[in-house]
Formats: sequence, C-alpha cells, structure tokens
Amino acid sequence: MNGLKINPLISVLAIVVGLLPIAHVSLAHEGWMPSKYSPEDAHEPSPLPDRVVLTWEDDPATTQSVTWRTDTSVKRGVAEIALASANGRAMKPDAVQAVTTLFESDINDAHYHSAIFRDLQPDTLYAYRVGDGENWTEYYHFKTASDRARPFSFIYFGDAQNDVRTHWSRVFREAFRDSPRAAFTLHAGDLIDVQNSDAEWGDWHQGPDWVNATIPVIATPGNHEYRRVNEGSRAFRYWSSASGETIEVTMTGFEEVDTDAGKVYQISLIGPWFTMGSLELNDGGRIIKVDEGVLEISGFTEEVLLGSSIYKPPLQDRQREPGEPAVTTHWRPQFAFPVEEGIDETLKETVYVIDYQGTRFISLNSNEATESQIPWLRSVLEDNPNRWTVVTFHHPVFSPASDRDNAELRNLWKPILDEFKVDLVLNGHDHTYARTGQVDASALLNVPTGYQQAYDPNIGTVYVVSVSGPKMYEITKGSYAKRVAEDTQLYQIIDINDKSLRYRAFTATGALYDAFTLEKRRGQPNRLIEALPAESRRQ
Ligand SMILES: [Fe+2]
Repeated sequence: MNGLKINPLISVLAIVVGLLPIAHVSLAHEGWMPSKYSPEDAHEPSPLPDRVVLTWEDDPATTQSVTWRTDTSVKRGVAEIALASANGRAMKPDAVQAVTTLFESDINDAHYHSAIFRDLQPDTLYAYRVGDGENWTEYYHFKTASDRARPFSFIYFGDAQNDVRTHWSRVFREAFRDSPRAAFTLHAGDLIDVQNSDAEWGDWHQGPDWVNATIPVIATPGNHEYRRVNEGSRAFRYWSSASGETIEVTMTGFEEVDTDAGKVYQISLIGPWFTMGSLELNDGGRIIKVDEGVLEISGFTEEVLLGSSIYKPPLQDRQREPGEPAVTTHWRPQFAFPVEEGIDETLKETVYVIDYQGTRFISLNSNEATESQIPWLRSVLEDNPNRWTVVTFHHPVFSPASDRDNAELRNLWKPILDEFKVDLVLNGHDHTYARTGQVDASALLNVPTGYQQAYDPNIGTVYVVSVSGPKMYEITKGSYAKRVAEDTQLYQIIDINDKSLRYRAFTATGALYDAFTLEKRRGQPNRLIEALPAESRRQ
C-alpha cells in the first residue's frame, strides 16, 4: 500500500482534542432518563397523508380504491393517477376527488379520505399519489388485474394482533421480500388487539408502511375488531357455579401487567353475599391464579379452575348486558371493501366477494349474524364463473385446541363449503398452525364430531389456521391436521394458475414450514399433493 504517513504525535493529539467535546457532552447527559413518547404524539395526524392503503370495492381489473388519513385541517382529499412512465415528469395525471369523513378515535380527530380510480385498463401499471393539492405523497405504483384467468400470488397472514409494531412488522416484511410482486395481502382477522385503539391501528399501518400503498389489502374482521353497542357495564358478570346455578359477580378491580410471557390480567371481584375474591388470567383468557374467595363464590376447586378459559365451562364468565356486536368504527373509514347486496346492513364491507384473475375470494364474518350470511354465500358460490374459490373468515372450522371448537359455525357453513367444493379456507383466531390433509382417521382420538373428515378426498377442501403475531396458544387436539406448529409466527405465500394452486407456509425467519399443491381436475375433486419431505409431516 502506498503509505500516507502521519506523525504519531499528531495522531495522539488529534484523538485527545477530538475526545474532549465528547467527554463533555456525555457528562452533561449523565442524569438523563428516557421517557415514553405518548401514543397521542406518536400517532398524531398531520396535513401530510399517512396510513395509505389500497383495497378493492369493485373489479380489480378496472378499478382501484385508496384510503388515507390526514389531520382535520385538510378539508378535501385528492388523488392523482397516470399511466406509469419511466419518465416521471412526463406523466400527465388525472385528478379524482376523495370522499372525506371525520373520524374521532380514542386519542385524536382525523380526516379519512377515500378515492376510487375507475375505467382503468386491465393488466396495466399505474402511478398515483394522494394529498390535498399542495401536500402530496410520493408516487406509488399499482398494477390492475388482468381481465382473464392468469397466474398470480398472494400472501396470507393469520392473526397479527399483539405487539404488532414490535413483533409483527418483521413477519410482514419477510413475506414481502419473498413475494414482492404479490397481487395482494390477505389478513384473516385480529389485525390488532383492542378494536378502538388508534395507536394499535397506527402500528398496524406502520409495519407494511408504503407496501400497503402499492399492494392491496383484503381483510376479514376477527373478534378483536369487534365492539359491543348498547351494552351494560362490563363490571357486571354472570358465572356458572358448581351447583349449576347462574350467579352474579361484579368486578371491582382490573389491572393489566406486562410480563415476559405476555400480558397478565389481575381481577378482583365481589360475588353473592359480598364474598370478595381475586384471580389472574393470561393473555389467552386462561385462569392462572385463584384465591379462596373465588373458590367459595364458584364452588369449584382450584384444580378444576386453573388452566381453564374463564369464558368457557366451568365458569363461563359472561357480561350480564352484552348489547349487540358491531365492527370497530375504524373498519369502514380506513378500508374500502365491496358493499354487497343481500346481506345485513351491519355486515357491509365485512362480507364480500372479489374476483381476481380466475379466483373468487370470499370474506365471511364469523363474529355475528352467521346464519344470515348463508343465502348470500350460496348465491356467490352458485353463480361463480371462476376456476378457484378461496374463502376466508376468522374463527376456524377446525380448531387444534380442545376448548376452542366452533361446532356451531362448522354446522352452519361447512355443508355449503362442501357442496361447492371450495378449494381453500383460510382462518385465524387460534394462535397456532394447523393445516388439514389426508391422515390416518383411525388414529384420531378425542376430537369433536366432524374432525374425522376434516380432510375429505371426495370434497378436497383444505382448511388452514395460522398465526403471524407473537401470541401463542397450545395445541391439544391437532391429530386431525397434516401439519401443525406451536410457538411459531408464520406467513403463507399462495401461487395460483389455471391448473394448480401451490401453497407454502414460512416461519418468521423465512424457513419453509409447510407446502402442498392442489391440482384442479375436470369433474373431480382436487388432487392434494404433499410437498414436504415425508419425515416432516404426519402420515
Ligand atoms: Fe381471534
């Protein structure tokens, strides 16, 4: 190396002189302690658009909807769109006026703006930006769907729900890196934990960030996107006692404690005859601690109560005046999904159909009015020109945890899914992974009625439960499934063409965890081809 020679004395002096200001600065900050930046500040809207998200409320081949948020100083939203050009300054955009609505969240007031681009050319790359005429986002790209069946991929996520910023963002980003040209992302409910928490929704938008502005979102609501309207006080509860009676219990204290294993809820209460008690729940609602008072009030022993879900037998905790369910007020302002005819008003934009390049995607709402959705479901399955059909809703048809069975839902909807041989059903809710396939049914013990035929080769529907966030439950009856996982955050990439559907599940660290292919056969059910090595799956 041709040396640049520096006098050693000069270098020592330079270091000492250079360090002096640093030493001074660090001494001045010695007593400093960090303080939490408030959610109000962290998620405050401004005149600059944020939470930009693409969805479809109409045909993906000729339309594209976009929604964004600003502060309330922005009275009118505008979206500009042009054919994408390699010469950006040559683009001549058309302007589309947005519909602007005031949204009052738990921590701020904002304006949500929703615009729809219409009369687009199929299979075409567009550039668009949103703003108010003075303050604009950058130009984003999106590509319209082809108007005929063409190969495409999409990404499916089970529940994100908890610690979304900390622990879900990396899952989304890993999925995007694996499938950067995905046609859309599909979210099977419980995107967040507390339905009306604007900070949680802000975190959900921040993980995908600009990707939601370039790859559309399809989402179905989970129980955590649900609230109660016209309800009584949540402190007033009913329990079932050991003697079979319904007893009145009143919560007097509720504390949320963060632990390494997730949140713990400490609850104090008063039962009949002013008997006081206390218990602790984990973040899955299971009882992890009870005192003498709770044993006296309920009549159950500690052994019976510990580990059970408070919402299920034996205690069956429930609100005395539960009111009616309703989707979070965030849902409709921030997502524009198809508004279907023939369903209850309360289900609008949660129950819908989107056809994408030869595949019909159906979102059902498993949180309310499940029976009322049947005629609509039947109509969109009967009159379906697409080769493939994928149905998504939050609560699983087959749950791998023994106390989380949704027998009523299965009895209502599965006969129709069977009748029309739906190809794939994507669920969430259970915070585990379980995917149906051909297993030895004679080995199935202790599973509810119907699980013996969880995969029926004469029908061919594959059912999946998955989880993308960090909250994890236990598997207690996974023997019906071909592939299961506990304690694993996952994302799924699904590639569809006219002959086959390739499904792959990946762990949050990008390792292939599950894989199969469905082969479409004329006049016959799909052929399910397992694609993992034999030692990696149940026989
Ligand atoms: Fe859920």
